[in-house]
Amino acid sequence: MKKTTLIFLHFSIYISTFFHLLSHANSQLSAQEQGILQNLKKLWGNPKPLKHWIPTNSSSHCSWPEITCSSGSIIGLSFRDYNINGTIPPFICNLKNLTTIDVYNNSFHSTEFPRALYNCSKLEILDLSQNYFYGAIPDDIHHMSQLRELSLGGNNFDGNISASIGRLTGLRKLVIISCPLTGSFPPEIGNLSNLEELSLASNSKIVSTFPSEFGKLKKLKFLWMAETNLIGEIPNTIGKMEALEKLDLSKNSLTGKIPKNLFMPKNLRIVYLHMNKLSGEIPPVVKAFNLDVVDLSENKLTGTIPDDFGKLINLTGSLPPELGRYSMLETLWVSTNRLTGQLPEHLCDNGKLVEVIASENQLVGELPKSFGNCNSLELVKIYRNNFSGNIPSGLWTSLNLKMLMLNDNSFTGELPERLAWNLSQLEMNNNRFSGKIPQGVSSSRNLLVLKASNNLFNGMIPQDLSHLTTLLLDRNQLSGSIPLDINSWKSLNTLNLSRNAISGQIPEELGSLPSLTELDLSENQLSGLIPSKLGLLKLTSLNLSSNHLTGNIPSKFENDAYAHSFLNNPGLCANRPSRSLNLKTCNSRLQNSSQTSYKLIAWIIGLVVAVLLGLFISFFVIRNHKKGKHRLHLTWKLVSFQQLNFTESDILSGLTANNLIGSGGSGQVYRVVINHSGDIVAVKKIWNNRKLEEKLEKEFLAEVKILSSIRHANIVKLLCYISSDNSKLLVYKYLDNHSLDRWLHRKSRATTFSSSVNHVVLDWPKRLRIAVGAAQGLSYMHHDCSPPIVHRDVKSSNILLDLDFNAQIADFGLAKILIKEGEPATMSAVAGSFGYIAPEYARTTRINEKIDVYSFGVILLELTTGRKANDGDEHSSLAEWALRHIQDGKPIGDILDEEVKEPCHLNEMCHVFRLGLYCTSTQPSTRPSMKEVLTVLLQCSQPIKNREKNATTTMFLPS
Ligand SMILES: *[C@@H]1O[C@H](CO)[C@@H](O)[C@H](O)[C@H]1NC(C)=O
Ligand SMILES: *[C@@H]1O[C@H](CO)[C@@H](O)[C@H](O)[C@H]1NC(C)=O
Ligand SMILES: *[C@@H]1O[C@H](CO)[C@@H](O)[C@H](O)[C@H]1NC(C)=O
Ligand SMILES: *[C@@H]1O[C@H](CO)[C@@H](O)[C@H](O)[C@H]1NC(C)=O
Repeated sequence: MKKTTLIFLHFSIYISTFFHLLSHANSQLSAQEQGILQNLKKLWGNPKPLKHWIPTNSSSHCSWPEITCSSGSIIGLSFRDYNINGTIPPFICNLKNLTTIDVYNNSFHSTEFPRALYNCSKLEILDLSQNYFYGAIPDDIHHMSQLRELSLGGNNFDGNISASIGRLTGLRKLVIISCPLTGSFPPEIGNLSNLEELSLASNSKIVSTFPSEFGKLKKLKFLWMAETNLIGEIPNTIGKMEALEKLDLSKNSLTGKIPKNLFMPKNLRIVYLHMNKLSGEIPPVVKAFNLDVVDLSENKLTGTIPDDFGKLINLTGSLPPELGRYSMLETLWVSTNRLTGQLPEHLCDNGKLVEVIASENQLVGELPKSFGNCNSLELVKIYRNNFSGNIPSGLWTSLNLKMLMLNDNSFTGELPERLAWNLSQLEMNNNRFSGKIPQGVSSSRNLLVLKASNNLFNGMIPQDLSHLTTLLLDRNQLSGSIPLDINSWKSLNTLNLSRNAISGQIPEELGSLPSLTELDLSENQLSGLIPSKLGLLKLTSLNLSSNHLTGNIPSKFENDAYAHSFLNNPGLCANRPSRSLNLKTCNSRLQNSSQTSYKLIAWIIGLVVAVLLGLFISFFVIRNHKKGKHRLHLTWKLVSFQQLNFTESDILSGLTANNLIGSGGSGQVYRVVINHSGDIVAVKKIWNNRKLEEKLEKEFLAEVKILSSIRHANIVKLLCYISSDNSKLLVYKYLDNHSLDRWLHRKSRATTFSSSVNHVVLDWPKRLRIAVGAAQGLSYMHHDCSPPIVHRDVKSSNILLDLDFNAQIADFGLAKILIKEGEPATMSAVAGSFGYIAPEYARTTRINEKIDVYSFGVILLELTTGRKANDGDEHSSLAEWALRHIQDGKPIGDILDEEVKEPCHLNEMCHVFRLGLYCTSTQPSTRPSMKEVLTVLLQCSQPIKNREKNATTTMFLPS
C-alpha cells in the first residue's frame, strides 16, 4: 500500500517538474510584462485608480480591469476616464502582443503625435481622444499598418490631415473630431475601403468641400461631418455609399441641390442636412424605404414633398398619400408649414406611429380612419388647421395616448363615455363638438387638463373631476347650477365656466378649494350672495361679472386688484366706498327687512355649518391620529418611510414667519413645534418658483427615499417629505444648536442670532469632536453606501449640532437634484457655497466623492483658523490663502484661531490644519479618501499615549 503511494508520488513529482520547466519560460515573459506595468504606474506617478496594481503571482495582472490578456500575455490596455496625467512611453511597445491602447479622456500629453507607438507592431485599436496631444498627424502614420480603429478627437492636433492616413487600409473606424486642424479633408480617405464609421465633425478651422472620393467608401455605415465648414455642393457620388445608414452633414455651408440619388442607399435611416444653404427640390426616395428621420430644415428648398418622409419643415404642398405605407414611420413632425390637403391615410399602417405633430398648417378633411386603430400613438398635436368631421372613435381610447391637442379646427361630434387611460391633456378649444360632458371624461384617471372652450357642449357641469387641474368650459351652452358636492375638485387650479347659461348660487364650497388660483364664472345667470369663503382663496384672477349676484362682496376683494371682477351685477355692493370697484356702497339704512332676515338666516346657517365643520375636522384629526393616516390636506402629499406622530397639517400650520429660522440658497428653514406632542422638527421649504420637471421630481423622490432609509448618528434624520405641485418640504429632526457656521462665524453675523449663541466660544476639543463626527458621516456615505452618495454641498452651514455638540450632516445629495440640467452647477443650488467648491467641479461633470473631501478640508481650515470659507483675503478663498501662507514658509501657528489656541492644543490644531490643506489639493487624485481623513482625525482625538503607537498612518501628511 505504502509502496504504491510512494511510486505515485514520484511520478507526480516528475510530471509537475516537467510542466514546471515548460511553464518557466512563460512565467518569465509574464514577469517581464508585469515589470512593464509597474514602470508605467511609476511613470504616471502612482495614480490612485491604479493603486490595486500589486502583483500577487505571475499572472495576477491579467485579472486587473485595465488589462486584457490572451494566453497569459497582455493584449489590451484601457484607462478610460482615469484622470491620469502622463506621457505614453516607448517602452509600452515592449508588450509585444499589444493590440489595444485606449486612453480616452485623461490628461495624457505630448508635443507630438506619439510615434513611438509605431513599434507596437500588432496595434489594432488606438484611442487617444480627449487628451492633451499636440502636433500634426504625421505623414508616416501609415506605419501603424495593422490599425482597425483610430480615434484622435478632442486633442490639440493641428496642421493638415495627412494624406497618408488613406494608406491605413485596414481601418474600420476613423474618428478625428473637435481638433484645431486646418486645411481640407484629404480625398485619400476615400481609399479606406473597409471603413464603416467616419467621424470628422466639429473641426472648426477646416474649410473643405465634401470629397467626391468618399463615394468609394462602400462599407461606410455612419458618416458624421456636422459643423465642420463644408462648402460647395454635395457630390453625386454620395448615393454610392451603398451601406450608409446615418448621414449627418448638418450645420455646414453646403450649397446647390441635394443630389438626386441621396436617398439611394437602401439602409439609410437618418439624414441630417439641416442648417445649410441647399436649394432646389427634395429628391425622391429611391430605395431608402426605412427612413426614420430626415431633417432638411433651415435650407432654401422648394417644391412639393416626395414620398416617405418622417420629418419635414417649412414646405408647401400636400403630404404624399403613400406616407407610412412602406416605411416604419414613427414620427411625423410637420408643424408650422404651409401644408395643404389631408393627413395621409396610411400613416399608421405599420403600427409604429408614436407622434403626429402637424399643428399650424392648412390641413383639411377628416383624420385618417387608421387613427382609430393605432395603439402606438402617444402624442397627437394637430391644432390650428382646418380639419373637420368626427374624431375616429378608437382614437379617444387609444392605449398609449397621452396628449391630444385638437384646438382651432372644425371638428364635430360628441365626447366618448371614457378616455384613454393615460391621457393627461385633452385640448379641444374652438371646435364644434357638442353633447354632454360625460362623467367618465372629467373623472378620467390621469387627466390633468381639459380645455374645451368655445364649442357647443350642453348639459350640466360635470361633478366628478378626479385629478383635473385645469378645466376650461367657457363659451358653451352648459346649464344647471354649479354642483354642491365638489370634493373631487381639490386639484383644480383654473376653472373657467364663463359665457354659459349656468344659474343658481355660487356654492360656498368653492372657497375651500385649496389650489384654486383662477376663477371665471362671468356671463352666466348666477344669483344670490357671493359666499364670503371665496375670500379665503389665493386668487390671481377672479371674474364674476355679468351675473345677477346680490349683497356685499367679501371684504378681501375690496381693492383695485378686483376692479373688473364684479362688473355688471346691479345687486352687488361694497362695504367701503371705492371708485375703482364700480360698486355702490352697501347702505345699512336702506336695507329692507327682507335683506336683514336673509342676513340673519345666512348667519344662522353659517353658524351651523361652522359647528358641523368643526366637528367634522376634529373627527378627522382624531381619526387621523388613531390610524396614522393623513388625509386632511388632500393636495399635499406626505411621503414617509417610517412611523410618524404628526400629520402634514401639523407641519403646514407651523410654516409661519415667527418660526422661520433660516433662509438660504435653496429655501427657507422653519422650526416647528408639533402641538400635541411637543416634539420639534426642522422643516426645509424648497423654493417653489419653478416646478420641477417630472424626471427631476422622480429623481428627487428617489434620493429622498434613500436618505430617509439611512440611520447614522452623524447624518440628520430625514423624517418625511411633503410635496404639492409646486412646493417641497423636507422634515428633519430638529437639532438644538443650529449649524456650525453660526458658532464659528458669529462675529460677522451677530445681529441675526440669539444671544445665547453669541457668548459661547466653541473650544478646540468640541471642534475636534465636530470634525470627527462630520467625517464619520461623510465616510459612511462615501464608503459604506452602495452606490456611494456624494453630498456636493458640504459646508459649515450644513453641519448641524445637537445639544452636546455632536455633528450631523444635513441635506445629503439633494443639492444636485435641484440644479437644473444645463445650468452651471456653480450658478444655482450651490451658489451660496463659494469657497467650498472643488476646482474640478466648475470645469467638468466628472464629479466624485473627492469634491466632498475638498469641501470638508475647507471646514477643517475653518475650524482651525476660525475664518470663513470665502475669507482668505480680497481675492482668494480660505483654502488658497492657507496654502499660500504655508508656501511662503510662514509658521502655521500664526494663523490658528486666537480664541481657542492654547499651548496644549497647538499640536493637534497644526495637524488638523495640515489635513485640511491636504484635503484641498487641487488634484482630486491626491486628496485622501474620507476614510483616511477619519483615521487621522481619530488619532488626533485619542489620548496622546495611544497616538504614538499608531503614528504610522499619519505619514502621508505633507509636512
Ligand atoms: C493569481 O492571482 C489571481 C488573482 O489574484 C488569481 O485569480 C489566480 O488564480 C492566481 N493564479 C495562480 C496560478 O495562483
Ligand atoms: C499635468 O502635469 C503637468 C506637470 O506634471 C502640469 O503642468 C499639467 O498642468 C498637468 N495637466 C493637467 C491637465 O492636470
Ligand atoms: C505573445 O503571445 C504568444 C501566444 O499568444 C506567446 O507565445 C508569446 O510568448 C507572447 N509574446 C510575449 C512577448 O509575451
Ligand atoms: C419658412 O417659410 C416662410 C414663408 O415662406 C419663410 O418666411 C421662412 O423664412 C421659412 N423658414 C425657413 C427656416 O426656411
